Amino acid sequence: MEHKESNPGPCRKVVVLSGAGISAESGLRTFRDGDGLWNTYRMEELATPQAWARNPVLVLEFYNWRRKQAMEAEPNAAHFALARLQRFFEVKIVTQNVDDLHERAGSADVLHLHGELHKARSTADPSRIYPISGWELKLGDRCELGSQLRPHIVWFGEEVPLFPQAVSLAGTADIFIIVGTSLQVYPAASLVHYVPAEAPKYLVDPRSEPDSPIRNLTAIRNKAAEGVPELVDRLIAGLA
Ligand code: APR
Repeated sequence: MEHKESNPGPCRKVVVLSGAGISAESGLRTFRDGDGLWNTYRMEELATPQAWARNPVLVLEFYNWRRKQAMEAEPNAAHFALARLQRFFEVKIVTQNVDDLHERAGSADVLHLHGELHKARSTADPSRIYPISGWELKLGDRCELGSQLRPHIVWFGEEVPLFPQAVSLAGTADIFIIVGTSLQVYPAASLVHYVPAEAPKYLVDPRSEPDSPIRNLTAIRNKAAEGVPELVDRLIAGLA
């Protein structure tokens, strides 16, 4: 019987894990950099179920403020480069971001691990999710069951329902790109450990350290709007 080498075929599936840093050059603040949101505001008062129970108006106003900023922001070269990559690879975006800049840049397959700013959710039935038209979600905005609508955001201490889906995406990645995340929030930060060891991994972040315990990881010490387009060009040219 003829022994045929198994031909792995071209590396065709790119999975991306993005964080707040990819939207920084679009003018949206990160969380843990110098002027980060959690260095300015207390997450315990704005992004937990307890905060919502204690002061829903404050929580609604916080996300209205962020929603308005996200609507006024534009995708940057990093978002557009990942959208362009779709012409050459199967690209799956797993983002911790709740803005819609990946979608507005043209990425077709975006999984929001931590929810979406432009959606609201019934407090009586979490499966009832609604688009928010405009930037405001107010006390008194109710679902058809008559319950108050809340931001469709995963708050600290809440389950991350889409994580299992993200794990199976990571497990099938031929190439894995991490951009703009401090990798301090779990389970999102553990995603890279589900990527096959032999798959090439790239970390685009101005603070990335060259020596990483993660196998096959190349640190690109650069901002996303420059580092991601450069990496995308190299992947398309087959140079990375
Ligand atoms: N380009 C690329 N990376 C950048 C840029 C930039 N222009 N500016 C900052 N960064 C990097 C920072 O060096 C840092 O590593 O982006 C990262 C931002 O880290 P965080 O502020 O912690 O944001 P993130 O990792 O997305 O936070 C994860 O925490 O509060 C929760 O739910 C929230 O999704 C968020 C999660």
